[in-house]
Parts: sequence; C-alpha cells; structure tokens
Amino acid sequence: MDDSRHQHYYSSQPVSVSQPAIYEATLRGIVLRFWTDYGVFSRGHIDLGSREMILAMDLSDAHRILDLGCGYGVIGLFAARMAPQAHVILTDINERAVQLAQKNVEANGIRNAEVRLGEGLAPVADETFDVILTNPPIRAGNAVVFGLIAGAARHLTPEGRFYLVARTKQGARTFATEMRRHFARVEQVGQGSGYRVYRGTFA
Ligand SMILES: C[S@@+](CC[C@H](N)C(=O)[O-])C[C@H]1O[C@@H](n2cnc3c(N)ncnc32)[C@H](O)[C@@H]1O
Repeated sequence: MDDSRHQHYYSSQPVSVSQPAIYEATLRGIVLRFWTDYGVFSRGHIDLGSREMILAMDLSDAHRILDLGCGYGVIGLFAARMAPQAHVILTDINERAVQLAQKNVEANGIRNAEVRLGEGLAPVADETFDVILTNPPIRAGNAVVFGLIAGAARHLTPEGRFYLVARTKQGARTFATEMRRHFARVEQVGQGSGYRVYRGTFA
C-alpha cells in the first residue's frame, strides 16, 4: 500500500475504504479467481514475488502445508490445487485478508484448505508442516520477518522445507543469510522479475 489514505497491508485491522476487485490468475496450468480489496497486499493483481514463489515451489509428497502471511490467499490456494493430497492452512494477522482468503477458498471450490487469523505461528501453535511458504511482510521490518523465519523452522518436520520469496533490492540476501542460522541448507530455487525464492532444509 503506497496510498496514504489507506493503512499498510500488515495492519491487523485495516480501516481503509472497501472496494473489492476480482482477478483471475493462471499459473502452472491452474486457473484461480481472487477477491481482493484495499488494506490487503496486492489489490487487483498477483504480486510478482508471489508469482515467482508459485512457479518455484515443489509440493510433491507434502501432506501438511502452511501459507504464512497468506493475504487473500494466492500462494496457499495455488498450493491447495497443486497438491490435492495435502491439507493447506493459510494464516494472516490481517482480519480483512483472512476474510478474503476464506471467501477465495469458497469461490474456487477448494476443499483441502482452511484459513486462520493470528500473529506469526500462533494460529498453528502445536502443529508441524512438510512445507511452509511465505512471501513475508518486508515493510513490517526485519525483526518481524526474522521472527517468522525462526518460527517456521520450529514448525517444520525434520524432512520439511521452507520457501521464502523476497525482492532482491529489499533484502532477499539478508533473509537468506538469516535462514542459514536455522537451516543446514539454503538454496536459491527461483529468480525473476527482481525477486529471489529461497528454500531452507535441515539436511
Ligand atoms: C507481502 S504480504 C503477502 C501476502 C500473500 N501471501 C501474497 O503473496 O499475496 C505479507 C502478509 O503478511 C501478513 N503479516 C504481517 N505481519 C504478520 C505477522 N506478524 N504474522 C502473520 N502475518 C503477518 C500481512 O498482513 C500480509 O498479508
């Protein structure tokens, strides 16, 4: 959100005016429609970083997947369609984002995904995942993003993998360095449109 009339997308309760906008995205042969709005990240179009994430993520053999900071659900809903064998949980701190993500689950007829409201890993406190995906809230600051990286590492199975996308000019390499504090191996698995996608694993 660059418009000063609106709150930042990472507010928990946006007070922006509501003006829903819907768009359709086709990636990896999957077509999905998304309801979006002011006060939520990337209104009216798919973010280029989210796109790079969806193109890079490998969900084979995953049974439990988390989209951490889901916004209106673009990454998590593509994940649900790409991995019909999996259960996908989408979480966000932003109430409007969670409402839109829930609406998008229903609008796309997706049955293997659920949406939860809350900060960081709190909504999945006792749960572990095979894959955790995040397009993190860079504008919330490094401390928040570093906390999400550490939290993700704690909520992965030993064989699990963590994917993070970030803009090269907004500290992608810094986040990769932080990931190396928690993961034995960190690889760049995608790059395009000024973004990098990193994958962290424990072996
Ligand atoms: C860059 S946006 C990505 C949204 C969505 N995943 C996408 O790709 O379009 C980051 C999201 O993280 C959420 N967020 C910010 N701080 C958070 C926190 N502490 N815990 C959970 N989500 C948070 C924001 O509300 C926002 O929806």
